[in-house]
Amino acid sequence: MRLATPIFFLALSSFSLALENGLMRIPPMGWLSWERFRCNVDCKTDPHNCISEKLFMEMADHLARDGWRELGYVYVNIDDCWMAKERDKTGQLIPDPERFPGGIKALADYVHSRGLKLGIYADLGTHTCGGYPGTTLDQIEQDASTIAQWGVDMLKLDGCYSSKAVQALGYPRMSKALNATGHPIAFSCSWPAYQGGLPPSVNYTLLTKICNLWRNYGDIQDSWDSLLSIVDWYSANQDVLQPVAGPGHWNDPDMLIIGNFALSDEESRSQMALWTVLAAPLFMSTDLRTISEASRKILQNKLMIKINQDPLGIQGRRILKEKSHIEVFLRPLSHSGSAVVFFSRRTDMPYRYTTCLALLNFTQNAVYEAQDVYTGQIISGLKTSTFFTVIINPYGVVMWYLYPTMYIEQSDRTKFHPFAL
Ligand SMILES: *[C@@H]1O[C@H](CO)[C@@H](O)[C@H](O)[C@H]1NC(C)=O
Ligand SMILES: *[C@@H]1O[C@H](CO)[C@@H](O)[C@H](O)[C@H]1NC(C)=O
Repeated sequence: MRLATPIFFLALSSFSLALENGLMRIPPMGWLSWERFRCNVDCKTDPHNCISEKLFMEMADHLARDGWRELGYVYVNIDDCWMAKERDKTGQLIPDPERFPGGIKALADYVHSRGLKLGIYADLGTHTCGGYPGTTLDQIEQDASTIAQWGVDMLKLDGCYSSKAVQALGYPRMSKALNATGHPIAFSCSWPAYQGGLPPSVNYTLLTKICNLWRNYGDIQDSWDSLLSIVDWYSANQDVLQPVAGPGHWNDPDMLIIGNFALSDEESRSQMALWTVLAAPLFMSTDLRTISEASRKILQNKLMIKINQDPLGIQGRRILKEKSHIEVFLRPLSHSGSAVVFFSRRTDMPYRYTTCLALLNFTQNAVYEAQDVYTGQIISGLKTSTFFTVIINPYGVVMWYLYPTMYIEQSDRTKFHPFAL
């Protein structure tokens, strides 16, 4: 199977139709409370971990202090369960007064003073998934204006307790309402996840015009099986999903669960590599106060982040699914570079996978150099016909950043790279 030029043109054509708020030209990065901290509102018995302004301030402190911000992890995002159980007398959304005594505006100021951005959550429907006040169709403009006044930089709009018809009206209307506030507010839409994630129920042409990112599959849980189900769904539907991603409009396979309880280091390296090759938003959901050195190293891998943030913004694809249970993913990058991920679905022992670049869709007469993204090792002098062996651990990946170092036939330069412009 070849990643052919038409796919590339599709990616470009959606570009011109994209949401024109100028935001998220590269995949957004940051931290989101949901997967790790859920709807824990019990600040009396669990003050350290409950959804409160203290939690978000502490995460902001760590993002600013521990090297995250400089790498691009700038969003501090609140998920469900931040609100009071009722709107105020004027119908405005308000935070729970005991858990957010300073209010959201003060929290936004705090986050901004550390060079970070604040994201918040609402739900198109009668209630949020956690049972807090929802945003009904007639409340959309008021809620957009409230979060703009607070200085919030991003809105995730969930879709619990609303019908297909309400969602079809509400998501475009919120996009318009956010724009009308005059404040740059990135927009994350859960709409496709509620409609099965695929056409004809989901219109991705429309989504690229109204949302900066969208969730199209179930919530990630702290489990390897959950992670695999997402990766498999993305691969199975890549002909639909891959062309619709691009600068300003991204598929969102959900949060990184690295640093929590389920994943081994091997599996953590796999999530980071797979999310990067998918050009996915990188929202961590882990306790940055206690994260292990091993997890931090995986999340702070500079070359990995550079690849994730590649300015062309082309989502990668699974190009091979071998009988040996090795899968190969490929993402075209700027300057004729590529990211290749060799992923083992085996459960026995490190597997020696032998291949050559010609078998991985590289058709040009060039000599390549590969840098192993995790070990830093450089492999030089790879012609497309040169066979090589990578050793992939069970549950693990080998990830290469590949770039040409020499053209064998200069005259053939226009045909040089399968993804070059
Ligand atoms: C609103 O949309 C217009 C046109 O699409 C765009 O130029 C402008 O930057 C947007 N403003 C905001 C605040 O998103
Ligand atoms: C999808 O949305 C686009 C943009 O709004 C629209 O032009 C197109 O007709 C829609 N496609 C379908 C199948 O409804």
